[in-house]
Amino acid sequence: MLRTNTCGELALKDINKKITLCGWVQHVKNLGGIIFFYLKDRYGTTQIVVDPNHEKEIYTLAETLSREDVIQVTGRVRARPQGQDNTAISTGSIEVLADKLVVLNKSDTLPIDMEEKTTTNEDMRLTYRYLDLRRTKPQNNILLRHKIIKIVRDYFDKEDFLEIETPILAKSTPEGARDYLVPSRVHPGKFYALPQSPQLFKQLLMLSGFDRYVQIAKCFRDEDLRADRQPEFTQIDVEMSFIEEEDIYLLMEGLMKEIFKIVGVKVKAPFPRITYADALDKFGSDKPDVRFGLQLIDITETANKSSFKVFTETIKNGGKIKCINARGCAKFSRTEIEELEQVAKVYNAKGLAWIKVEEKSDSLKLDGMCVKFFNEELQKELVSATSANQGDLLLIIADHKHHIVNTALGQLRLHIAKKLDIIPKEEWNFIWVVDFPLLEYDEDQKRHVAVHHPFTSPKDEDLQFLETHPSKVRAKAYDLALNGVEIGGGSIRIHRRDIQEQVFMAIGLDKTSANDKFGFLLDAFKYGAPPHGGIAFGVDRIVAMICGEENLREVIAFPKTKHAESLMEGSPSEVDQQQLDELGMKIGKGK
Ligand code: AMO
Ligand code: AMP
Repeated sequence: MLRTNTCGELALKDINKKITLCGWVQHVKNLGGIIFFYLKDRYGTTQIVVDPNHEKEIYTLAETLSREDVIQVTGRVRARPQGQDNTAISTGSIEVLADKLVVLNKSDTLPIDMEEKTTTNEDMRLTYRYLDLRRTKPQNNILLRHKIIKIVRDYFDKEDFLEIETPILAKSTPEGARDYLVPSRVHPGKFYALPQSPQLFKQLLMLSGFDRYVQIAKCFRDEDLRADRQPEFTQIDVEMSFIEEEDIYLLMEGLMKEIFKIVGVKVKAPFPRITYADALDKFGSDKPDVRFGLQLIDITETANKSSFKVFTETIKNGGKIKCINARGCAKFSRTEIEELEQVAKVYNAKGLAWIKVEEKSDSLKLDGMCVKFFNEELQKELVSATSANQGDLLLIIADHKHHIVNTALGQLRLHIAKKLDIIPKEEWNFIWVVDFPLLEYDEDQKRHVAVHHPFTSPKDEDLQFLETHPSKVRAKAYDLALNGVEIGGGSIRIHRRDIQEQVFMAIGLDKTSANDKFGFLLDAFKYGAPPHGGIAFGVDRIVAMICGEENLREVIAFPKTKHAESLMEGSPSEVDQQQLDELGMKIGKGK
């Protein structure tokens, strides 16, 4: 070993010990002819003192040191002078008086600012990610990620799960995104698809009798990226045989209890549950943030009695009128309300009507352009339906498409909660979202598509509607939301060939295409498929939340940008003509 200790462990107990440390030089200062600097490694920082009265020779060398040189220092541990302790670091009560100094490697001028509160923009940080990762915060994030994954592996090991690897080069598994394709050289014109998830393999492992499977699995999805989405990400992927929904809830609540111990959070279980329909109706989201109120209120009935055409015409077209009561927000200026309208419009609302409750004592005084369309009686009804008080602001959206009303108001709800700073930061509110629809109609594709994936089992009692009213069929599916983030989702699967065929039919896959794509699964169902189900959690999302990071990139060692690029090694990149020739491929324009 080139060192006797790490830079994070020396303390008063080590006084007078002769030690050797290795690490990176930080903050060199020359104070009255004595050189001080910090030496940093993964474990911490230690103050090094180079005193010319002690060792003249190394002083000259120390004068040439600069930030991020990697060096080896031998010296003796001594207590810091009284009053000079640095309580911010673990080695803050000692320093090392250097006897010997070896420069293992000089660093060039640094391309990024390596301070903890870096001023470097993200693209530069990602280009030099190996340097960025030398900072304490990214290192702590990666460390926490490691610990969380260790907890997960230990938890499932104790529960008799086997970790089984599944292929990366495989056939496409639909999870709703585009596949990343890998051309085959051996079979020109044929492609592997990188897995969007190990879904089919884990189901087949249940058929093989493995009974309890877990995998920390890499998944690949070519989709529009956002702060909470990466093109390659990691799942805690789980599958079990002979189980029902309740078994999943119990086991996964246990997992969350274990994981959150790492940040000293006592997770309370069982988690509350909400149906998908209620989540949309009350929170305008299928991943409701239930840390605060501001729930959506349906005022269709009252609005229908008004003479406001925007409302009455919408209702005539089968639409809904809903609102949120932004308590105490009547003080918002026109400009602030216009900003809210812009937020609603991003989510396709046609407009945002508002009513301010100016007075509510003996008499009621409302303000807002649509107030005149509500007579006194209706104004009272509205105020009562929304439990509005003096100083409240009602924000109303009308649309013939119910999902636009819900989504736009749901997003407005989040926006206002952030603006008012009413979201409790220390709370961890888990909620199971259940009773998802099995299928939804896709306007673009003009067919039904699976809400989760097409291997999800319909509820037994809804199976009868599969052919006649496909949108009415509920699934044995569940998502776990935490503070408004979908951290996991899964389902009980179909394990019968006839039902799987029916579901394929319902999503427009005829027998031939179903056989072509999933023949191996349908075949497998012929040979004793056990009832089974599972779930997958987004590791990156859970770790980001625990680390208090908004963006998944901060908890992934080598992440991709929102344009799915790696700026560090420069991928994706062009390939040699010879490689293309071997694959029999020509580069076209792309669509
Ligand atoms: P699903 O598609 O819901 O289910 O994915 C499970 C969880 O993975 C996380 N996740 C992502 N994280 C980062 N970037 C992405 N692009 C991304 N996409 C998804 C989310 C999500 O809840 N096979 C099923 C699971 C099952 O049925 O067992 C599946 O993959 O946290
Ligand atoms: P307009 O008649 O389009 O000028 O709209 C009059 C007012 O009603 C404006 O304040 C709009 O923001 C609001 N408004 C218009 N359409 C809707 C809608 N679909 N839902 C709620 N408010 C609306």
